[in-house]
Amino acid sequence: MKEKISEIESDILKESLSNAKEIENFRIKYLGSKGKIKGLFAWLKEVPNEEKREAGQLMNGLRNKAQEIFDTAKEKLSTTSEEANKIDLSRPGDQIEVGARHPLSLVRSEIIEIFNRIGFTVSEGPEIEDDWHNFSALNFPPEHPARDMQDTFFIEKGEKEMALRTHTSSVQVRVMENDKPPIRTISPGRVYRNEAISARAHCFFHQVEGLYIDKDVSFADLKQTLLYFAKELFGEKAKIRLRPSYFPFTEPSAEVDVSCTICNSKGCNVCKYTGWLEILGCGMVDPNVLEASGIDSKEFTGFAFGMGVERIAQLKYKVNDLRLYSENDVRFLKQFTGGI
Ligand code: PHE
Repeated sequence: MKEKISEIESDILKESLSNAKEIENFRIKYLGSKGKIKGLFAWLKEVPNEEKREAGQLMNGLRNKAQEIFDTAKEKLSTTSEEANKIDLSRPGDQIEVGARHPLSLVRSEIIEIFNRIGFTVSEGPEIEDDWHNFSALNFPPEHPARDMQDTFFIEKGEKEMALRTHTSSVQVRVMENDKPPIRTISPGRVYRNEAISARAHCFFHQVEGLYIDKDVSFADLKQTLLYFAKELFGEKAKIRLRPSYFPFTEPSAEVDVSCTICNSKGCNVCKYTGWLEILGCGMVDPNVLEASGIDSKEFTGFAFGMGVERIAQLKYKVNDLRLYSENDVRFLKQFTGGI
């Protein structure tokens, strides 16, 4: 009898009680209604009377010991799991990193928005263009220097010449070919020119070009549209100035300056002490260009303009090195905020 009790006792002490499952098994094995200790008590009946007292005490001792081991293990488990589940409500939350839009996207959206307000739609076209849409339809004579390898990235030379577009005027040719006037559209997009990369030039940049064709469109309409644009973009005080220029696809052509927003036209190193900043090229669409796309130049006239998004961003954000726009340095990109 005693042997049996001390055998169970030494078993109890050997049990591992490190998780909920082991603790429950312990309970079933020793303390449960079919457990070993209960079994011992049933056996008590068969113990001779003179030994009953001692045996009962030993059994009670054993049961109490098992119960105590069980209770302590259970208690320990509940405090450790409580510890693990404890939520520290005073802990600051994880920071959500809010992204920022690229400065060029911000400026492009702003330009599009300004022209949308006066009825211009957005048109897009391929970045790999044929000679017709990039040059010929735009009245570039065959020997024009812009077709030279110097400026254009050719993809295929020869009969079917393909190149990376050098301007988004190519998209406007596609619009003129497919739509009938009135046409009022802007073409934002990436363009490519074979230039050495420096702070002032890159082998690709972004443009927004505009085209308006209808009956009786005049140079006054062009000038007024551009004045509206400059005021919307740079503020009510902005002034514009047009200087005669040359583009194969417009006649007459002009280059447009906006009054320097940085020094209020007083003169600074950005405007090179002239008070003016060049922002875009424009002109009345050459009748040859209209005819090349099947538009009757006796019935319709139009104006076109084109600007570099980097150039505008440079003026808005005072970032003078063009390379920063494509280096994807997060420290640079994080600084710009604006609506989505
Ligand atoms: N396509 C010209 C350029 O890339 C810009 C321009 C567009 C000029 C329309 C006049 C009219 O520089």
